[in-house]
Amino acid sequence: MSILELPARVAVETKLVIEIVSKSKKMDDCIVVSNLTKTVQAPEGPLTILQDVGFNVKPGEALVITGESGSGKTTLLGLMAGLDIATQGEVVLLGENLSNKNEEQRAAIRKGHVGFVFQSFHLVTGATALQNVMLPLELSGQQNVLLLAEQVLSSVGLGHRLNTPVEHLSGGEQQRVAIARAYAVEPAILFADEPTGNLDTRTGLQISELLFDLRDQAGTALILVTHEERLTERAERQIKMSQGRITDNISF
Ligand SMILES: Nc1ncnc2c1ncn2[C@@H]1O[C@H](COP(=O)(O)OP(=O)(O)OP(=O)(O)O)[C@@H](O)[C@H]1O
Ligand SMILES: [Mg+2]
Repeated sequence: MSILELPARVAVETKLVIEIVSKSKKMDDCIVVSNLTKTVQAPEGPLTILQDVGFNVKPGEALVITGESGSGKTTLLGLMAGLDIATQGEVVLLGENLSNKNEEQRAAIRKGHVGFVFQSFHLVTGATALQNVMLPLELSGQQNVLLLAEQVLSSVGLGHRLNTPVEHLSGGEQQRVAIARAYAVEPAILFADEPTGNLDTRTGLQISELLFDLRDQAGTALILVTHEERLTERAERQIKMSQGRITDNISF
């Protein structure tokens, strides 16, 4: 079917996705953050939790963001992914300026191009590992969803636990399901917010190795928020944050 035969809304969304994919292959930066400031209303009055933050991320780059608790890391990640909007400044994600898009348009830009992995895995409980990975594939209209989900789960070492409800899996296994789910749609960018924060040190290291291995294979840009300084070893860049500002932007 030609794009012209699709219902108007779907056609607009499909056209946007096609444009993003063709643009992202050519672009120098997959994310451009400029002069980003976020002010929230706290009971004590307006509170600036992110101030004048700016940097670029190249396609396939691994960027590690570190900083003390409350320094604004999760806030920054949310703005970069268009889950929230800034008070000032702008984010250009895969060539699209998020600051002049509404929530629906921002979701359309993310769809199929951006994956997330969180500290507390955010899996669908009651559903199996396989069902959790199949869900985003179905939503993005993929073919051969079952086979693809099996392959991705095998690649993270869970080929033998496909039909286990996720709540019966260990923390490390649940995080691997979350990573498989995020990578299954072959995103251009993966955001991970303290993905090893709820795991013991050894399991945490295995999970971070897996993130970097998948990044190497898939060429996905990886934006990783972590307290673990040693995770910078396989990154190209580290951004250090303190009190809502970037204090260091180091290339390795
Ligand atoms: N909607 C909000 N209203 C008020 N304050 C907020 C809001 N969102 C975030 N904050 C505050 O902004 C600061 C930065 O929060 P953020 O979650 O980005 O920090 P973080 O660096 O991710 O910390 P952690 O390492 O503990 O996860 C914190 O002091 C937090 O309390
Ligand atoms: Mg945080």
